[in-house]
Amino acid sequence: MKQKSLVSINDYSKEEIYEILELAKSFEENPNQDLLKGVVVGVLFFEPSTRTRLSFEAAIQRMGGRVIGFTDAGSSSVKKGESLKDTIQTVNQYADLIVMRHPVEGSARHASEVANIPIINAGDGANQHPTQCLLDLYTILQTQGTLDNLNMTFVGDLKYGRTVHSLAIAMNMFNTTFHLVSPIELKLPSAVKIHIKDKKQPYYQYTELADAIPQSDILYMTRIQAERFSDPMEYERVKNSYILKPDMLKESKPNLKVLHPLPRVNEIDTGVDSMEQAYYFKQAQNGMFVRQALIAHILGLK
Ligand code: CP
Repeated sequence: MKQKSLVSINDYSKEEIYEILELAKSFEENPNQDLLKGVVVGVLFFEPSTRTRLSFEAAIQRMGGRVIGFTDAGSSSVKKGESLKDTIQTVNQYADLIVMRHPVEGSARHASEVANIPIINAGDGANQHPTQCLLDLYTILQTQGTLDNLNMTFVGDLKYGRTVHSLAIAMNMFNTTFHLVSPIELKLPSAVKIHIKDKKQPYYQYTELADAIPQSDILYMTRIQAERFSDPMEYERVKNSYILKPDMLKESKPNLKVLHPLPRVNEIDTGVDSMEQAYYFKQAQNGMFVRQALIAHILGLK
């Protein structure tokens, strides 16, 4: 039977998600587990990345596996006009698993349909980022002791933010109250909001960040992504909409943690970094443990 890909967070059940999070804990306790001897992973990044690519590569190497791939499609035969389908069908001949980031929404689904090895979506345009979602869930569980009944506040680019889309969809499984803070132009798309409405989860929309902080358990900050705007003037209008500063956290709940998928531009003042609420660099570290767990799960090694 073909092993299961991870294209969208909807592909995984709540039980499967908990299984991966539990496994991630065992990798956090012991990251060097020689499970991937003889395994080759194709890591294909058609878009820039620091955390996702390096944490996948670190995960694979800590498990004794090997990596092939590229970090810039310009150095591959895509530059000569090769299609995504042909690229995937070729890497399929060399690797046991493909991790792919691509700027086009739906590209990961397409890749999973043409490959006969599993595909892990490392971000497809403004659509989804399901492995970020798993590490976000792991981090929320780690900081709150539960995923249930939380007040989740999403801030910034809710329209194009693929990390927001995946996490908002997943949090519907856990009886969440949603607080959505964005400029009018960057509201959560209806295709994502429909999941919240279908599950009848309460949600509140704000344009002012300060209005949402006091009720938040998790403050999920995001970057306004210049690269997603077709009109640069529109980006200029919204780019400095939210900047979290230390004094804004004075009235926060004692359990509040600030998360951010990173990279950050200026939406979290560096003065917040040393505060007890700041958890985004630990969140990035968790990415490696969760990706180890995901690979072990997909390849049936644990
Ligand atoms: N969070 C995230 O996807 O970061 P990178 O773009 O650096 O991979």
